[in-house]
Amino acid sequence: MENWDDKFDYLKLTRSLYLNIDYLQFLIEKVWKITKKVDVIDFGCGYGYLGLVLMSLLPNGSSYTGVDISEELINKGKEIFKELPFNHKFILSSANNVPEKDDTFDIAICNSVLMHIPEPDAVLAEMKRITKNDGMIIACESNWNAVNALLYIDGIKKSKITDLGFLQILFERIHEKTKTDGNIGMKMPVIMARNNIKNIQARISDSVRIILADEKNEDQDSIYTSLQSDGFGEELSDEQKSKKINWFMELGFSEEEATKYLEKEIKLNEIFRNRDELNLVYAAAMTFCFGYVSK
Ligand SMILES: C[S@@+](CC[C@H](N)C(=O)[O-])C[C@H]1O[C@@H](n2cnc3c(N)ncnc32)[C@H](O)[C@@H]1O
Repeated sequence: MENWDDKFDYLKLTRSLYLNIDYLQFLIEKVWKITKKVDVIDFGCGYGYLGLVLMSLLPNGSSYTGVDISEELINKGKEIFKELPFNHKFILSSANNVPEKDDTFDIAICNSVLMHIPEPDAVLAEMKRITKNDGMIIACESNWNAVNALLYIDGIKKSKITDLGFLQILFERIHEKTKTDGNIGMKMPVIMARNNIKNIQARISDSVRIILADEKNEDQDSIYTSLQSDGFGEELSDEQKSKKINWFMELGFSEEEATKYLEKEIKLNEIFRNRDELNLVYAAAMTFCFGYVSK
């Protein structure tokens, strides 16, 4: 299992890529129509990023409970929330077995969590158990195929820097091997339906981040740093390159396929590092899937 203990800086730098706060406000007010105080539990909360955003948007009197398996991140969350006026609690626990009674919360939510979990159905069942009848389950999850397809970099043919076919097979094979799924976002309506969640709907985050060569300011710097934290521009040593090729081969690709793909990835990273000439458009395309509990 992946260990998130040392990922506070990564989480802090990357969350802003995926979601516009005004879009979350739109969902709360116009789509979810939350008008009264609610008790929310966040599965795989990390340091409580979603709680920080939600608590400033939800009706007064709402509460936030964050659950995570990483003690480091839970402690960070406690430290951050201690200074804030929000009614909150953090629980160190696996998302499969949360020490809370049945039917306790109005909303169970998760952000970029089910994609990392080999048994998303079990976590969904736990989210349902502790949510009240008619309460909501919300899962905000990734679609790596879409992110790669949507990425635009000016001045170079996309086929020279992104091999969509290779990536599609790569993600399928990672899913087969690890049971985790970076493309779980668009599958969530079906996964929720098989877990008997009702009135399922889905939206896609409207966040698009832009870097323009001729426009340098704090916002652009922050987007650039966030993308760097997400792996863009990475410079691989020879050892790292051969490790990557071996890993692709373990996943069933030939050495030729793996090398050809890696050349494109290296080219993309080189172009990204040339900040002064970079014109890039990036969309995180996270699916917000939600439905209602009927017991
Ligand atoms: C990508 S991070 C997302 C964190 C947070 N939701 C956010 O948006 O910042 C995934 C989180 O899931 C947590 N996690 C992974 N497996 C878990 C499990 N089985 N039970 C509880 N938390 C888990 C990790 O510790 C990590 O904090």
